Amino acid sequence: MNIKVMYHTINGNTGKVAEAIAGALGVKAERIGEVSISEPVDMLFIGDGIYAGKPDISTVDFIRTLNGSMVKKAVVFGTYGVQEKAIKIMKELLEEQGINVSAESFGCKGKCWAIMNRRHPNADDLLAAKEFAKGVLNEL
Ligand SMILES: Cc1cc2nc3c(=O)[nH]c(=O)nc-3n(C[C@H](O)[C@H](O)[C@H](O)COP(=O)(O)O)c2cc1C
Repeated sequence: MNIKVMYHTINGNTGKVAEAIAGALGVKAERIGEVSISEPVDMLFIGDGIYAGKPDISTVDFIRTLNGSMVKKAVVFGTYGVQEKAIKIMKELLEEQGINVSAESFGCKGKCWAIMNRRHPNADDLLAAKEFAKGVLNEL
C-alpha cells in the first residue's frame, strides 16, 4: 500500500500532527513544495493550518496540480486557531480534482498569536491524530 503524508506548516503545529500521522503509519511526513506525486498513491493524507480563513496558497496550488487518477483516496487534516473551515476547503479542492475524499478528517487547535491555544497540539491531540490515521486506513 502506498501511503503519503504531505503538509504545509508555518509555525510547526500542522507539522507535529503530520509527523504523528506519518509515524503511526510507518511513513515519512513530507512538506508540500518539496516533493511531487510521481507514482500512484492509495491514500494521501494532506494537511495545513488556516491563515486568514484559508489554507496556504502553496497547498491550494499543490492540490490543483493533482491528477485524480494518481490518488485513490485523500484524507484531510489540519490545525486552527478557532475555525476548522480550511479542512472543508481542502476537501472541496480535492474533489474538484476528481479525487475520492474521506468523509472523515482530523482537526485540532494549534498555538497562535503567542497565547492562544498555547499548549496545542498537545500529547492528547497527537495521540488522537495517530488513532485517527490508523482507523481511517480501513477505508481502503
Ligand atoms: C498569519 C496567520 C493567520 C491565521 N489566520 C487564522 C484564521 O483565519 N482562522 C483561524 O482559526 N486561525 C488562524 N490562524 C491560526 C493558525 O491556523 C493556527 O495557529 C495553526 O495551528 C497554524 O498552523 P501551523 O503552525 O502549521 O502553521 C492564523 C495564524 C497565522 C500565523
